Amino acid sequence: MAGHSNYVPQSAAAKWLESRLPVISLVRGSFVDFPTPKNLNYWWTFGGILFFMLVAQIITGIVLVMHYTPSTGAAFDSVEHIMRDVNFGWMLRYLHSNGASMFFIAVYIHIFRGLYYGSYKAPREISWILGVIIFLIMMGTAFMGYVLPWGQMSFWGATVITNLFSAIPLVGEEIRTWLWGGFSVDNPTLNRFFSLHYLLPFMIFGVVILHVWAFHTTGNNNPTGVQPKTKQDTVPFHPYYTIKDLFAIVVFMVIFAWFAFYVPNYMGHPDNYIEANPLVTPAHIVPEWYFLPFYAILRAVPDKLGGVVAMFGAIAVLFVLPWLDTSKVRSGTYRPLFKQFFWIFAGVCVALGYLGAMPAEGIYVILSRIFTVYYFAHFLVILPMLGFLEKPKPLPASISEAVLKGGSGKPAGAAAAPDTK
Ligand code: HEM
Repeated sequence: MAGHSNYVPQSAAAKWLESRLPVISLVRGSFVDFPTPKNLNYWWTFGGILFFMLVAQIITGIVLVMHYTPSTGAAFDSVEHIMRDVNFGWMLRYLHSNGASMFFIAVYIHIFRGLYYGSYKAPREISWILGVIIFLIMMGTAFMGYVLPWGQMSFWGATVITNLFSAIPLVGEEIRTWLWGGFSVDNPTLNRFFSLHYLLPFMIFGVVILHVWAFHTTGNNNPTGVQPKTKQDTVPFHPYYTIKDLFAIVVFMVIFAWFAFYVPNYMGHPDNYIEANPLVTPAHIVPEWYFLPFYAILRAVPDKLGGVVAMFGAIAVLFVLPWLDTSKVRSGTYRPLFKQFFWIFAGVCVALGYLGAMPAEGIYVILSRIFTVYYFAHFLVILPMLGFLEKPKPLPASISEAVLKGGSGKPAGAAAAPDTK
């Protein structure tokens, strides 16, 4: 990461430190002098937004823990105590719970940005794969966090999801008992979920460092998908992108604040304000909104094991995506057919999210099945074939050419092409 630093230590103390631990040149090379494509659009600010959200979740979480009690007899009441008695406890809790949703909004935008501009393609496969690992750990963290207030949805959501493991042949029941630490979701389950919910964000932090290291080694992708060729194609990360990222973070914070302060329960479920009761099953058990597309895939398959395989398969397929897309052109900007399939795919994911919130019956199940098949077809059939069938538009010779001739990321001579204007 430090390879790009122009830093020359001046003072005796700085020279002393540099020869022992070159941390200043590491930071300068990575976040000050780092040559960054000059045409990055606002979709590229979501990496910085995600980093901000990760830190915000860790800080609010650490203070919440000071007032939370992880036991089935006290958890629900301790959350009410935070809401009513602790100074600004309500704010901390709403920032943390809405923060989780905002984190997922940002990560989905970040992932779809990568899908559109082909950021998963060589040479950035490792950045992408590390991203998918981060996404998996994020989902585990959010799932276990939702169990902690010990409301009805906490308990029943945990019961539904942990029960899925019993579908694994031969050892499924044992695995479920092992996960529970007993014979149902109970105090040992709550304790271990609390422990892991505290641990996993720090693991995410570690993987994020590798993620950043990986795309600092290959260089950032950009809206043209064309690699920077000369010094004219890049600008130093600071001040150009520090300011742009900061501005985007502030705008994102305004939206976040609006949710946290005006509609703090909009993205939650009212049943989680009822204490967990193993004897009363809620009418509809629904996960948090960010799990809904995967929940729809799970329920689309009539067989329990098949549903579990499909649900995990929907994420597993992302790991091999860099090798499924056969197109030589990276950015969707120059791929007329891909562009259309990209938007169909995005629509299918939203539709699956809607279906995940509906009862698993009638037309909802039928549509879930159709869209689940389409989800997998997009990766396993459409993307591999498009590379051969599609005739991409001509690429600009360089980032500078694209910027100067046609606005950010538009190809040279694109004026005649109606959809690139
Ligand atoms: C805590 C979560 C994450 C953080 C903090 C994070 C951070 C970042 C940052 C700062 C960048 C550079 C700026 C940008 O491109 O927006 C980046 C790029 C990238 N991220 Fe992430 N990311 C996260 C999750 C993910 C996930 C879940 C994926 C994919 C599944 C992913 C895939 C990528 C790829 C492929 C790049 C290189 C993109 C390029 O330069 O176009 N990231 N990430």
